[in-house]
Amino acid sequence: MNVITQVWSCRHETSNYLRFCTSSNIGNIVKFIEPVTLTVLSTSLFTSFFCRNCTDSGTDMDLSNMRKSYKSDQECFEEDQLASLDPIKEFGSWFDQATKCPEVGEANAMCLATATKDGHPSARMVLLKGYSEEGFRFFTNYESRKGTELDSNPQACLVFYWEPLNRQIRIEGTVERIPYEISRDYFHSRPKGSQIGAVVSRQSTVIPSRQYLRDNNAELEEKYKNTNVPMPDYWGGYIVKPHLIEFWQGQTNRLHDRIVFLRPKEGETELGDMQHQAEGGWVYQRLSP
Ligand SMILES: Cc1cc2nc3c(=O)[nH]c(=O)nc-3n(C[C@H](O)[C@H](O)[C@H](O)COP(=O)(O)O)c2cc1C
Repeated sequence: MNVITQVWSCRHETSNYLRFCTSSNIGNIVKFIEPVTLTVLSTSLFTSFFCRNCTDSGTDMDLSNMRKSYKSDQECFEEDQLASLDPIKEFGSWFDQATKCPEVGEANAMCLATATKDGHPSARMVLLKGYSEEGFRFFTNYESRKGTELDSNPQACLVFYWEPLNRQIRIEGTVERIPYEISRDYFHSRPKGSQIGAVVSRQSTVIPSRQYLRDNNAELEEKYKNTNVPMPDYWGGYIVKPHLIEFWQGQTNRLHDRIVFLRPKEGETELGDMQHQAEGGWVYQRLSP
């Protein structure tokens, strides 16, 4: 009975199911678990018992049983639930919900994907530091890998994933540097330690050791003890001006909701098949999951 209680309490943590049971408990557990969980659980049991060698050796990790429940069909995301037909306002509505959700640790953390001119991609997390009808802003080192890629190929994709809400937003757009004054004001609004850190770090370059950073940091702390830290010219903000924003909400039955807003190209006035007029020059459509 003790074992069954533990399994119930961790039933959303698929990967932990089997930490609490042995083969002799399986019969009892099976009687108490609902069908969806049972499917996951039985897959877990088989995988854990029969693939132990390969997972333990670390050479071939079988993760085929890692699967989470998302939302039920009653909580689906339909077009009439859009808070606004302006996708930036809709983003604002989802973003507010993410910031109010205590389980979302850092709602403004987003994955930024860039690519070299010849299409070699790279991605990393950055923090969204502002958004408006014009676009989505973040700050970084202009000479970093992402900065170099954006210089030669000013296209980017941003992805937010708010796991506790089963929601993802994808934004694609063209990228521009934001005006120097705005970057400078933001730079000086940061804690002094962060300002010095930005000066110390020639982001994405190879360095000899962590001690090298410590030494440079200490030197600059001393240098700017009583004065402002000037913003380095290799640091500043970018804005992603979107032409596509996709709102995705996960469903347990994998019939996920995907509503995509597109900004038609100049001269494109006709609505496409199954497209609907939105606001601010946008159109929207639903995609198959
Ligand atoms: C949650 C999180 C937030 C981050 N925010 C930023 C950021 O706002 N700006 C930034 O330059 N790097 C940020 N980083 C570090 C980047 O992920 C990355 O390591 C760094 O920018 C160098 O990337 P690059 O070599 O691809 O240019 C963040 C990392 C994490 C995990």
